[in-house]
Amino acid sequence: MSFRDYEPVDLANAGFKIHQLESLEKDNIENAFAGYVDEVLGKINDGKEATVYLCRGGASTTAPLLAAKVFKARNFRNFSNDHSYRNFSKHKDRRMAKAMRGRSRKGEKAFHQDWVKSEWQNLTRLHEAGIRVPEPVALFPDGVLMEFIGNDAGPAPRLVNCKLTNQAAHTTASLLMRDIEKMLSIHMVHGDLSAYNILYHNDQPVIIDVPQAMDLRTTPDAWSIMHRDLGNLENCFRRLGTDISFMQLLDNY
Ligand SMILES: Nc1ncnc2c1ncn2[C@@H]1O[C@H](COP(=O)(O)OP(=O)(O)OP(=O)(O)O)[C@@H](O)[C@H]1O
Ligand SMILES: [Mg+2]
Repeated sequence: MSFRDYEPVDLANAGFKIHQLESLEKDNIENAFAGYVDEVLGKINDGKEATVYLCRGGASTTAPLLAAKVFKARNFRNFSNDHSYRNFSKHKDRRMAKAMRGRSRKGEKAFHQDWVKSEWQNLTRLHEAGIRVPEPVALFPDGVLMEFIGNDAGPAPRLVNCKLTNQAAHTTASLLMRDIEKMLSIHMVHGDLSAYNILYHNDQPVIIDVPQAMDLRTTPDAWSIMHRDLGNLENCFRRLGTDISFMQLLDNY
């Protein structure tokens, strides 16, 4: 397994804090990822759907630092994320699909595990296709361990928090275009692509947050979602002062 070298990046606009952890939470995460994680160093982000922790790698990995993305338990009543429901229909176990549709506790648990597994499988597929995503390291019941994108100074900033020169914006857009071409070649749509789900590290974009990614050939509304993703990228680069057509990539599919 090879990990990228860590080089210093300018975190001036990062907007990140490594939050302090309660000792119980720290112990829970260290136990949940035993072997792969020696120590939880802090919380990188506490979002609606997941918490991401910065961890020191343990004996089972050569990575010095890891990001642990731990998914929160699902509460169906508060959960209206359209693309997430797609999983119901594709579940192979019909009884489980029914439990999910009925929104029972068993269904919630199965849904949660499906979601964690989706992040892992999509990350693996994207990484194997040579797309810049964090390298997947290990799958656990509550979350996924992956390459930490950042360095000793902290996590890489999200693209939305970066001010790029015109040239850097062009280079970044070209790299993302190549990534999307590769995604199209494996028929994948990210499904939530925007400047919030792209980190900027060593002058390069790294795409994150992939549990909702889908197959263009088998997901009914995947094309409109792909259009939305590409539209988000065009808006993001327009804000950075660069007019780039990402939609043109679809002409070659
Ligand atoms: N591999 C990583 N290396 C460094 N930082 C990461 C990594 N993965 C995620 N992060 C940080 O954690 C944040 C949340 O991760 P992600 O987008 O995957 O989860 P999320 O469920 O969408 O969270 P949110 O609800 O806050 O958007 C990212 O915006 C990024 O700042
Ligand atoms: Mg996100």
